[in-house]
Amino acid sequence: MSAILEIKNLNKHFGGIHVANNINMSIKKGEMSAIIGPNGAGKTTLFNLITGFIPSDDGKVFFEGQDITNTRPETIVKLGIIRAFQVASVFLEETVYDNIYLASLAHFNKSAKIFADRMIFKDVHEHTEFILKKLGLFDCKDLKASELSHGDMKALDIAIALTLQPKILLLDEPTAGMAPEERFKMMHLIKELHDYFKLTLVFIEHDMDIVFSIAQTIRVLVQGQLIAEGNPDYIRQHEGVIEAYLGKEVF
Ligand SMILES: Nc1ncnc2c1ncn2[C@@H]1O[C@H](COP(=O)(O)OP(=O)(O)O)[C@@H](O)[C@H]1O
Ligand SMILES: [Mg+2]
Repeated sequence: MSAILEIKNLNKHFGGIHVANNINMSIKKGEMSAIIGPNGAGKTTLFNLITGFIPSDDGKVFFEGQDITNTRPETIVKLGIIRAFQVASVFLEETVYDNIYLASLAHFNKSAKIFADRMIFKDVHEHTEFILKKLGLFDCKDLKASELSHGDMKALDIAIALTLQPKILLLDEPTAGMAPEERFKMMHLIKELHDYFKLTLVFIEHDMDIVFSIAQTIRVLVQGQLIAEGNPDYIRQHEGVIEAYLGKEVF
């Protein structure tokens, strides 16, 4: 697997806080990876730096070999780095079906391509129905988005993100605020996105059961520093990681 996203010596300060402390990462194409770390460790900031929401102090970000450091968010989206949970993308007064239909319409030609090796869609309707089914939203397709449960709203947001044809999908705490059953459903959805769509996925997550069940690679951020990265077995036994989570039986 070759690297799709490379982060080199990335630094960011907020006032006196070093929120990204010389971060280096190489995210492989097709990889399912998680970023974990205590609150305030700089996880969301890292997503903000990658997606151009905030400028870095120094360091570089490369996507498919291209230097995208401090590129505008709109340009980064067009390159295929998509972040879900920008709920502004959901039209609350429209139905679930219409939300996906409208997003599919705008990007049909592009979006159909991610499925090109497995299926061809006759039209936007067929494409919409396929996404509804894959995301577990078919049964609520006629509800207004505003009537959805928290978990289904997140699934809708991911559905819309998918129509943008992501090459890499970033999810910031996809199960936050969910009941256990909803979490389980979201975990399966994330796994399906990876397995079926062959997406490169990076998710920030607090639920360690989810992280250790589905991530192939886990990266641990503590006070802006990447203190460990590796497969679940390696991370589980890593002394620095255990220390960072001392007193909490998370693994
Ligand atoms: N836009 C901002 N301006 C100033 N400080 C910020 C900003 N965003 C985050 N921070 C601070 O940076 C640190 C890391 O925050 P964040 O990346 O949100 O952590 P995490 O997602 O790991 O919980 C925190 O101390 C937070 O208060
Ligand atoms: Mg965060």
